[in-house]
Amino acid sequence: MKKRILITCAKGITPFLKEEILLLGFPVLSETIAGIATEGTIDDTLRLNLRLRTGHRVLFLLKEFAARDVDALYHGVWEIAWEEYIPEDGYVCVTSSVDNPSIRDSRFANVKCKDAIVDRIKEKCGQRPDSGPDQDRAVVNLYWKEDHCSLYLDTSGEPLSRRGYRKIPLTAPMQETLAAALIMASGWNGSGHFINPMCGSGTLAIEASLAGLNRASGLLRSNYGFMHLKGFKESLWNDVRTQATKEEKKTVGCRIIATDLRRGAVEAARRNAAAAGVGHLIEFAVCDYSETTVPDGGGIVILNPGYGERMGKVKELEGVYQGIGDYFKQKCGGYTGYLFTGNLDLAKKVGLRAKRRIPFFNSGIECRLLEYELYEGSRKKKQTCRNMSE
Ligand SMILES: C[S@@+](CC[C@H](N)C(=O)[O-])C[C@H]1O[C@@H](n2cnc3c(N)ncnc32)[C@H](O)[C@@H]1O
Repeated sequence: MKKRILITCAKGITPFLKEEILLLGFPVLSETIAGIATEGTIDDTLRLNLRLRTGHRVLFLLKEFAARDVDALYHGVWEIAWEEYIPEDGYVCVTSSVDNPSIRDSRFANVKCKDAIVDRIKEKCGQRPDSGPDQDRAVVNLYWKEDHCSLYLDTSGEPLSRRGYRKIPLTAPMQETLAAALIMASGWNGSGHFINPMCGSGTLAIEASLAGLNRASGLLRSNYGFMHLKGFKESLWNDVRTQATKEEKKTVGCRIIATDLRRGAVEAARRNAAAAGVGHLIEFAVCDYSETTVPDGGGIVILNPGYGERMGKVKELEGVYQGIGDYFKQKCGGYTGYLFTGNLDLAKKVGLRAKRRIPFFNSGIECRLLEYELYEGSRKKKQTCRNMSE
């Protein structure tokens, strides 16, 4: 039976998530700043979990009801036939988003909700599932705003940003779903080169490789919330995965280059890319961003420099941002340049006029993806970049 499916995402990513949902053939019923409502069956959630690059969680609606206080919450939750979804010998975690005047601590709502679920299963099956905070098995999501409650099965379990390839995260890596959205925002589709100086742990280059191959971003993950629900159809999951694999391209027809000044970062990025199965598609090198190879043929150059929370750090970064402007002008003619930053004052140091400024949020900080048209002209032909193997 078709039900409402709420797909959550990081703040600001909705336009890209919407595009993905429509491309997969699902309708868009409504949208908020951090989620899109569509509709489908529980079977549809398998494909959504496997294919969405920018979504965080795929929530399947079970029931909506009015609840003024926790007793009404308990009663409403108990009415749902949990014994049809959650194995009595399994494990369940309740997550929530609560904005109700009778609740000061949302953990209290979680406990009441969990109690109703396990009490009901105990009564119907004679045994109750274990419960706790781990999201690697069955997960139930409670959304309670004023006196309106919605109960969902969180079919993702762990958020979809955890693709499973990040073996070495480094400090402050970009979330995989944000990287995927930035690539969508750039319009890059594999038809030009993808150059990523300052690659850090390699998220942008890895997500670009996956997108360029049209490889489903969920193929690497072996665990999802839906796998821990009663009635999970393993054969359907295998079919959905096989179909996704058939739609993959054999390779990308362009160069993907990722560099960083720190050898340790490049090593981490290389290992992450290998874990993602795209190590062979990315040319890694240790070098200053300004020495990153920019091959003829055009494409995109995308940088995510630090944007410094401390004043001293910001001063230091001014020169880096200025240098990025020079690099764009002198070496990246014929490309589209992108700078992702949370500090617009620093971005001004680039000294180029941004054609587009696309808003995003990164760990709660308002950021922009700035787009620069870099015309062919004063580009210097000589490029130098040390390869890791040299
Ligand atoms: C904010 S992090 C990038 C994070 C990356 N997007 C990720 O997903 O991990 C900035 C990176 O720029 C690198 N970096 C800083 N100054 C550099 C320079 N002059 N040349 C090249 N890389 C530099 C740092 O080593 C760091 O890995």
